[in-house]
Amino acid sequence: MRQKLLSAGANELSYEIREIVKKAKLLQKEGVEISWENIGDPIQKNAKVPEWIKKIVTNLTLDDKSYGYCDSKGELETREFLAERTNALGGAQISPNDILFFNGLGDAIATLYHYLAPTTRVIGPSPAYSTHSSAEAAHANHHPLTYKLDPDNHWYPDMDDLRNKVKYNPNIVAILLINPDNPTGMVYPKDILEEIVELAKEYNLFLISDEIYNQITYNGARAYGLSEVIKDVPGIAMKGISKELPWPGARCGWIECYNRGKDSEFDRLCKTLDDAKMIEVCSTTLPQMAIPKILGDSRYEAYRKDLNEKIGWRSRFISETLQEVPELTFNPTYGAFYNTIVFKKGTLNVYQKLEIINPKVKAQVEEWVQGVSLDTRFVYYLLGATGICVVPISSFCSDLLGFRITLLEENEDLLKKTFGTLRDSIRQYLDS
Ligand SMILES: Cc1ncc(COP(=O)(O)O)c(C=O)c1O
Repeated sequence: MRQKLLSAGANELSYEIREIVKKAKLLQKEGVEISWENIGDPIQKNAKVPEWIKKIVTNLTLDDKSYGYCDSKGELETREFLAERTNALGGAQISPNDILFFNGLGDAIATLYHYLAPTTRVIGPSPAYSTHSSAEAAHANHHPLTYKLDPDNHWYPDMDDLRNKVKYNPNIVAILLINPDNPTGMVYPKDILEEIVELAKEYNLFLISDEIYNQITYNGARAYGLSEVIKDVPGIAMKGISKELPWPGARCGWIECYNRGKDSEFDRLCKTLDDAKMIEVCSTTLPQMAIPKILGDSRYEAYRKDLNEKIGWRSRFISETLQEVPELTFNPTYGAFYNTIVFKKGTLNVYQKLEIINPKVKAQVEEWVQGVSLDTRFVYYLLGATGICVVPISSFCSDLLGFRITLLEENEDLLKKTFGTLRDSIRQYLDS
């Protein structure tokens, strides 16, 4: 008899953000026009890459070097540029050797959890972004371990919940933050970050801060980087260009390791990640070469500011539209480009429906809603009746019921139409 092929952790690899796409594509074939409010790719939502950025990338393709392997840690010039930017913030100081490039931050996340001992746990926020929670759970052969973000307190972390879990679970070796957060759009206030750093210090933990949305803040907010608050606690900041430029197809992200010299075991973890990349050779060269040229260009700051203002406007518009539904718990967002909207307790039930005119689509949706959570049921009806594709919050390791939307639609008329329809559909669903 052959041995079992899969580890128990393989069951943890579900990704509803993509699963919903399969369902939407099936309905598309039946003639439903889909409005993709489910995926965080600005390019798919009609963002236009400015000509000056395209020129930089085009010119790099004329340089033969951009076709080759690069240093296994990443282009030295780029790591020097990034180390200087972090050091200029005045917090934890790093050298280019403390930076390691990956093929997208997804690659960094998978590699980091993979090399932690299976008995160790990293506690992360709930609602949880599944690339982290699934990879961590798969490594530990167990369900994700989470602390609550509180929708009744601006989605800030429930510090009592976090403290208690850290106190009573000796397997926890690290705390994960996603700042600004996906899926809630919350930006961690500085005093809460400082409290988390103190907690990590007290229990000898290290910190992981996913900062892929660090430069995407609006409506008066600013996101503090881990390096600015970490003092002498060991930690890893995860960064990338998928959202910020945005250039998700480049598959380019990096980690910055802080305070390696303060903890020899943490230093060994960072070295292991370096070694893992070395046996794989290196990460994508061309986008690394582009980073200092684009981020260092005098036009970049104004470009990003303009994009942030647009996201901020959409965030305010969506707030005004959906706040009209009293059964929803709604928090304004300040960073990243998502919002998580929660149905108040007791407002959903298994009898609610939306009218679906196409009989084939209706039959398909009625089949899909059998035995699913109440928010997934709403999401499938919404998809079938209106073509609006959002993601249920129960699939983000959360016992809340709600859905995640994106704030990315560039076409203003379409945005107004989609969110007006969403508000009216929620009303109809709740009243049905
Ligand atoms: C919080 C967070 N981290 C990491 C990633 C993955 O980024 P990348 O495209 O660099 O793999 C995403 C993508 O949506 C994200 O939202």
